[in-house]
Amino acid sequence: MRGILLAGGSGTRLLPLTSVSSKQLLPVYDKPLVYYPLSVLMLAGVREILIISGDQHVDAFRMLFGNGSHLGLDLRYARQESPRGIAEALLIGRQFAGDEDVCLILGDNIFYGHGLPPVLREAVATVDGCTVFGYPVSDPRRYGVAVVDDAGLLVDIEEKPASPRSNLAVPGLYMYSNDVLAYPEKISPSPRGELEITDVNRLIIKEGRGRLVQLGRGTAWLDAGTHDSLLEAGQYVQILQKRQGMQIACLEETAFRMGYIGIAQFTRLAELLPSESTYGRYVRSLVHN
Ligand code: DAU
Repeated sequence: MRGILLAGGSGTRLLPLTSVSSKQLLPVYDKPLVYYPLSVLMLAGVREILIISGDQHVDAFRMLFGNGSHLGLDLRYARQESPRGIAEALLIGRQFAGDEDVCLILGDNIFYGHGLPPVLREAVATVDGCTVFGYPVSDPRRYGVAVVDDAGLLVDIEEKPASPRSNLAVPGLYMYSNDVLAYPEKISPSPRGELEITDVNRLIIKEGRGRLVQLGRGTAWLDAGTHDSLLEAGQYVQILQKRQGMQIACLEETAFRMGYIGIAQFTRLAELLPSESTYGRYVRSLVHN
């Protein structure tokens, strides 16, 4: 399974914060937003990842992560000329995927929860067609919304419906088997001028190959697409980290715990981080424990 992390878009809703910075590089408490979805891919066991961003920002991501080898990852970069839709990421990433399946994650989605890694790994191992996730929210109208039958099986997804048929939002985390990666070629741009990932998923669901995995209460899903949600995500991370004394989306820790790097490399990374930063102190403290 290869990963595609989509970190482009115009960031219009966050202006002027995004006038010179990529949205996915904005801070969520103590680290850039993109750390959170990257850590999710890592926890899913995905180590070969294509980061897609707009022309203006792709080099900033390259500066931040390089080729990823220090984290035991293989990171590549690609440009999306303009935000023509989330589904375009599958077309941009097709060559990168080769004959492997793909996990696509949006760079502004944050997932956190104790039970999440096994759920992700099971989804990675079993994808055939598409696997999407369902997360109960109080206002589903802002999202893609899952339509399920009485048996809880996925029968459709509606993009930002005025009258949602369930309270299950579909977060920006999708798994595809290799044979459906060209499906975005079969769809046309939506009224908002984008190749909608929901339209791709609907095609696959119509073929009877769409699976919904419901994320339970134990998982937090936050998106950081507005000023309020960005601030709230930061507050969530701050509260949890302070309370538990553990970091959310600490990439060095994730790489070490997943076995992507050994203790020698972990120690090296810790030494490179300044003890003046709480993040640095945290990584250093793990090495010494
Ligand atoms: O967050 C989950 C939701 O994401 C899903 O529930 C919806 O079904 C899905 O359509 C999407 O909805 P949004 O309207 O919130 O997507 P948005 O246009 O904000 O794009 C999401 C992220 O993807 C954003 O950080 C920018 C990035 N993006 C978006 C587009 C359209 C790109 O990098 N390139 C693009 O072409």
